[in-house]
Amino acid sequence: MPPRKIIIDTDPGQDDAVAILLALSSPEDMDVLGITAVAGNVPLELTQKNARIVCELAGKTDVPVFAGCDRPMGRQLVTAEHVHGKTGLDGPSLPDPTMPLQDQHAVDFIIETLHREDAGTVTLCVLGPLTNIATAFEKAPEVIERVQQIVLMGGAYFEVGNITPTAEFNIYVDPEAAEITFKSGVDIVVMPLDVTHKALVTQPRNDAFRDLGTPSGIAVAQMTDFFERFDKEKYGSNGAPLHDPCVTAYLIAPELFSGRHINVEIETQSDLTRGMTVADWWGVTDRPANATFIGDLDADGFFALLVERIGRL
Ligand code: BDR
Ligand code: CA
Repeated sequence: MPPRKIIIDTDPGQDDAVAILLALSSPEDMDVLGITAVAGNVPLELTQKNARIVCELAGKTDVPVFAGCDRPMGRQLVTAEHVHGKTGLDGPSLPDPTMPLQDQHAVDFIIETLHREDAGTVTLCVLGPLTNIATAFEKAPEVIERVQQIVLMGGAYFEVGNITPTAEFNIYVDPEAAEITFKSGVDIVVMPLDVTHKALVTQPRNDAFRDLGTPSGIAVAQMTDFFERFDKEKYGSNGAPLHDPCVTAYLIAPELFSGRHINVEIETQSDLTRGMTVADWWGVTDRPANATFIGDLDADGFFALLVERIGRL
């Protein structure tokens, strides 16, 4: 099978960075057409810069990076420096990028790419708030049916929420964009907290990254070292959850994951439950299924894949 053509839409973020490294180290599985940055974990100015830092770390300076929306569709931006640090990539000390940022707006790149490539051949891998994606769908609705699939990190059901008691960060930041995306009719695969909280970087797993002895391996270990203090304190867990790499790992090895094709709706009205992903896991409504909601993964297989692939860089 030829590699799958993908656009990575992202707000790096240490876990976004690992997801990008996995994609860039897997050319036989993924052809990264471009990376589009969005405001999320930190403001856009930093996420677009961090995306370029990660490409340079991987030695893939030919991947075009675009800056997209600097705020959600209808709300103030909420960021997560309390998790990711001031830069969004705290942990390793990585040089400022020298590769250029593309002039084109990320939303226009997404639209143009979907027009240019054959219909049904481009997958959108979304690792942050869905602002760029929904803005593209609003601006050029004809591209919606040309998307092969959206694989996104966002939401939660049994884990409920991380940024509020009922909402996961990516959906909470821009619930209107999430609603547009989930109602778009595109084939959607969701990596909610239910699965990403099972992708924990325990000490031996972190050691395996560091023991690669390469700049990428060491940087991944340093990023997760930084990132884990938050989750250890909050959840008492054994390490940091690698949320976003679940997206790119799914595209390489879907057999590591399992879930259900169900109805998922986004709460946009309530102040109390803003951004909640109301997931009909038990099939108690007649609402039509619109997303594959992943619930479980083979964590050892997932980390073996990450170490093997990142070890190539
Ligand atoms: C998601 O929010 C961000 O902090 C992470 O990068 C991930 O995409 C987890 O809720
Ligand atoms: Ca992210």
